[in-house]
Amino acid sequence: MATTTYQGLEILFSRQQIAERVAEMGAQITHDLAGEKLVMIGVLKGAAPFLADLSRTIQVDATFDFVATSSYGKGQRSSGAVKLIKDLDHPIEGKNVLVVEDILDTGLTLSYLRKLFLQQHPKSLRIATLLDKPSRRIEKIEADYVGFSIPNLFVIGYGMDYAERYRNLPDICVMPPGAPE
Ligand code: PRP
Repeated sequence: MATTTYQGLEILFSRQQIAERVAEMGAQITHDLAGEKLVMIGVLKGAAPFLADLSRTIQVDATFDFVATSSYGKGQRSSGAVKLIKDLDHPIEGKNVLVVEDILDTGLTLSYLRKLFLQQHPKSLRIATLLDKPSRRIEKIEADYVGFSIPNLFVIGYGMDYAERYRNLPDICVMPPGAPE
């Protein structure tokens, strides 16, 4: 039987599994950016817990910035155009950028952001995503660092929401189909 939370939700990745994988990702990023400076750009809101944890496993001189995007008609499905609703606070020209996402799904968000950021001529641009759903991809984009590749499940917790709820669950859980809000 699957492990469940106090709310009866099935746990896909426990807090321990997440912490171990995040530490591995941080070690890899530390290795790849040794001696460099880094700007970590979190994509609000879902990426906030991942950025907070990942950043503390990266032993590189790092700063934070945040953007927020929205896409039209987004419930349990992504669709259509992406809109920037919060821009960067600081220029990224000549900087090493690490875009930090909780989940790479259709790829619409990260394709949009990658294009936007590359127009500003960073020194380098890398993408870290905790979860990847390759089967859902519409835009051709891959992350440089992937925590876990998953099938097409609706996941919540560790930053990810259903109608803005569940972001504070410490584990990544599966939202049962047809579940009430
Ligand atoms: C989620 C997630 C990514 C995006 C991925 O954000 O955090 O930003 O969707 O989907 P895509 O690859 O299909 O574009 P969401 O728009 O749900 O906002 P949130 O982070 O505030 O929950």
